[in-house]
Amino acid sequence: MTYAKILGTGSYLPANRVSNDDLAQRVDTSDEWISSRTGIKARHLAADGEKTSDLAVSAARRALEAANLVPADIDLIVVATATPDMQFPSTATIVQQKLGISGCPAFDVQAVCAGFVYALATADAYIRSGMATTALVIGADTFSRILDWNDRRTCVLFGDGAGAVVLGASAQKGIILSRLHSDGNYLDLLKIPAQIADGAVCGTPYLQMDGQAVFKFAVKQLAAVADEVLHAAGYTAEQIDWIVPHQANERIIAATAKHLGIGMEKVILTVAEHANTSAASIPLALDAGIRDGRIRCGQTLLFEGIGGGFAWGAVLAEY
Ligand code: ACO
Repeated sequence: MTYAKILGTGSYLPANRVSNDDLAQRVDTSDEWISSRTGIKARHLAADGEKTSDLAVSAARRALEAANLVPADIDLIVVATATPDMQFPSTATIVQQKLGISGCPAFDVQAVCAGFVYALATADAYIRSGMATTALVIGADTFSRILDWNDRRTCVLFGDGAGAVVLGASAQKGIILSRLHSDGNYLDLLKIPAQIADGAVCGTPYLQMDGQAVFKFAVKQLAAVADEVLHAAGYTAEQIDWIVPHQANERIIAATAKHLGIGMEKVILTVAEHANTSAASIPLALDAGIRDGRIRCGQTLLFEGIGGGFAWGAVLAEY
């Protein structure tokens, strides 16, 4: 049996760190309001001209270095992003070009904050089926570009960043099982209702969200998909060493851990320093947990994410 094994991880955060207090100088908010509701204390924002693909490439280079590989070893690139550099071509092909390689398939996955679990499950399917042997899976987003910085209900929640994972075909256990879902009936809860048409941007090019409805839906579906993936794999919650969740809100993360009966000491939490970096948040957290030595070889990881669409999913893996 062929598994997709994590060979290396890397991440990148833009240099500009903006604290809640910094933000309170620009909009009518406070550190107390933001941190008590979300756990967020700061976020990093991309510099002018710093694009999603730039963040993605920096994270990818670090992941390749950790895996002791070079770009030419990669035969599949999947980039999860909702903030591509351009309408087309895909950010994945731009990343491919910036890494100096060509020929291998490269494409984007658009599942917003669930993007990384979607991308991981997709690359896993390619490797299991023999269509790829060494895949670069990246989550990268620059939500600072799609926020209305005068809307305090949304602009305080997000940050920019990128995380990358190199997956390689292996006889050793790697990704065990994935479960993905989506339901377009909930598209109005979280969206940017704009498109490029007739030479102009039509509609509102800023993120709109019903925060309370998103909160309730996320808590419910993340619990359900975590149960589903464990049941399908024949695992119990006690066998999980680390939950590596999408980092939107500490209270959503805590609710999923509580549902599984897992203490917060077994959850990799980066939301305080990163805020919600959408598709980048899971690989950013994974890389943090690996580089600081908490996540070790042979341990069992549960990735779970949810975002606009709605789209959600969970991936169980052995590191
Ligand atoms: N600072 C100060 N006050 C604020 C702010 C702010 N940044 N934002 C809103 N308020 C005010 C509102 O105007 C409102 O005031 P009012 O009662 O006078 O009208 C009050 O605070 C309460 O607003 P609510 O929206 O009811 O606040 P709530 O307690 O629901 O918290 C929050 C809002 C934090 C967005 C919460 O609903 C949440 O976390 N939802 C999940 C959203 C999320 O994580 N989205 C990420 C994308 S989806 C994903 O990644 C899973």
